[in-house]
Amino acid sequence: MIKIIKKYNIKSILEIGTANSYSSHIFARYGAKVLSLEKNYKMYNLALKNLINSKLNKNIQVLFKDALLYDTNKKFDMIFIDGSKTNYLKFFQKFQNNLNHKGIIITDNINFHKLKIEEVNRRTKKILLRINEYKEFLKKNKIFKTIFLDVGDGISISKKVK
Ligand SMILES: C[S@@+](CC[C@H](N)C(=O)[O-])C[C@H]1O[C@@H](n2cnc3c(N)ncnc32)[C@H](O)[C@@H]1O
Repeated sequence: MIKIIKKYNIKSILEIGTANSYSSHIFARYGAKVLSLEKNYKMYNLALKNLINSKLNKNIQVLFKDALLYDTNKKFDMIFIDGSKTNYLKFFQKFQNNLNHKGIIITDNINFHKLKIEEVNRRTKKILLRINEYKEFLKKNKIFKTIFLDVGDGISISKKVK
């Protein structure tokens, strides 16, 4: 992620899914301003607590919002999709127009532990199917070119080409 921020000279990020604000801090440490959305109140509060004592808090704004219900006209250099895995496609479609020229959309956990559909329970199967649908959507997308990297739990980097 740090390499990506440097390579693409990322200065502004919309993050979907703050959790404890770990990734927001990494982004801010490398010079980006972060707007992060969190729909879980406990997590939102944990993120706020972590921000209070942080030297980076000027560059991180966390909102208690469900990303699917949040609208903004702001544009970002990077959108980081790290919310519920069954909604990756919806997140992408909702925020793709919030990218600056040459902006990128990063999606985390795209390999989802390399689990196999035939070996998992029904709930996990639903997640895997949705992630697979999302990957197919990215592969066929003519407006964005996507590369898939086998780092961590897998990430995709989608860049506008049209
Ligand atoms: C994997 S964690 C995020 C981790 C964080 N980005 C990091 O790397 O430190 C996923 C978080 O996304 C939140 N989330 C899931 N769906 C969301 C949505 N629709 N809008 C906002 N937050 C969401 C969950 O509550 C959870 O805290």
